[in-house]
Amino acid sequence: MFDARLIRNQFPILNTQDRKGQPLVYLDNAATTQKPWQVMEALADFYEHHNANIHRGIYQLADDATQAYESVRAQVAQFINATPEEVIFCGGTTEAINMVAHGWGYDTLSPGDEVLVTAMEHHANFVPWQVICDRTGATFKVLPLEPDGSLSLTSLEQALTKKTKLLAITQISNTTGIINPLAEITKMAHQNDTLVLVDAAQSIANDQIDVQSMNCDFLAFSGHKLYGPMGVGVLYGKSTHLEKMSPFQQGGSMIYQVSNNKTTFKKAPHKFEAGTPPVAAALGLGAAIRFINTLGMANIKAHAQELRTHAWGKLSDMNDVALYGVALESGAIISLNIKDIHPHDVATVLGEAGLAVRAGHHCTQPLMQHYGIVGTVRISFSVYNTLSEIDHFISALSKVKSLLS
Ligand code: ALA
Repeated sequence: MFDARLIRNQFPILNTQDRKGQPLVYLDNAATTQKPWQVMEALADFYEHHNANIHRGIYQLADDATQAYESVRAQVAQFINATPEEVIFCGGTTEAINMVAHGWGYDTLSPGDEVLVTAMEHHANFVPWQVICDRTGATFKVLPLEPDGSLSLTSLEQALTKKTKLLAITQISNTTGIINPLAEITKMAHQNDTLVLVDAAQSIANDQIDVQSMNCDFLAFSGHKLYGPMGVGVLYGKSTHLEKMSPFQQGGSMIYQVSNNKTTFKKAPHKFEAGTPPVAAALGLGAAIRFINTLGMANIKAHAQELRTHAWGKLSDMNDVALYGVALESGAIISLNIKDIHPHDVATVLGEAGLAVRAGHHCTQPLMQHYGIVGTVRISFSVYNTLSEIDHFISALSKVKSLLS
């Protein structure tokens, strides 16, 4: 049985009180999720009992650490329906996207080619493409959105041409929670031989990802938004692309042979993991995936929908509250503004009441420009949030409104 109140017991930080003795109401899960004790225990266990560098030592401790790390790779592969060779560990979503922009993009793009992104992308899936287009002479194109901030598939279809070498697109907007229908989109893109890179930073903890049925070419996510530790993330790439793609970083562990004249590289995924990888964090990610699997992704999704529908309904009943995005079929995120009050002021007063929400442009300045605003107040939900926390937020927001209006 899925019960958020019981799940909360697995997250020690949720018992925290602020300096005024108020309980923490954590509604900033799109920025990072809190960690269950299983994840923290996995980190401590590695450093207490298994710490050694991997893929190098031939003593037992090093061999055990290597096997543990590689077993998480297999676990991640199973989680997203890939093969272990297609799973590259890295620092997080940003690094994963940069790996493709600089590894694949730098070698492949040339003048006349186009890279298409949408106006709802996080800067991490926007700026690297802008920079790589600048360096290679390719054209950087941004697909405008509908007035509500959603994507029109008709506009997308028109924007995709044989010149479009890659479409970089988020599965769930980190600002509005809008969900893009990726399976349909990849089908459309592939008709033009356009590769598709999916930013799954927000979707990985909120929906079952199946890279085969989505049929994306690359997919990136971070461990820390999936109840795992900061400092570890994953780039998935289809083997055919990874074989041809250059490693973004070079160094130890990713080579086959080095001489004064020439260096040869290992195969994927190892050629992309130069230097010492985030071994302990990867084991923490393994524990996080076990935690998610125990809860069941369908239950997690249903819980998030319940919280979002409840919050959206209450917020739509409030005067002078603007909501961004769409009511239904969205991820566990809501962005709003109170008329004539700066989002930072709203978040500051909410923070004083123990509510952790995010305010600002959320690393989506092109989306803010689309809406013609400086920023929003964003709330985002997770498995441990409850309906009573949403009610608490709504009543705190009413107080902010009367205090600052
Ligand atoms: N990308 C994270 C967010 O949307 C940090 O808050």
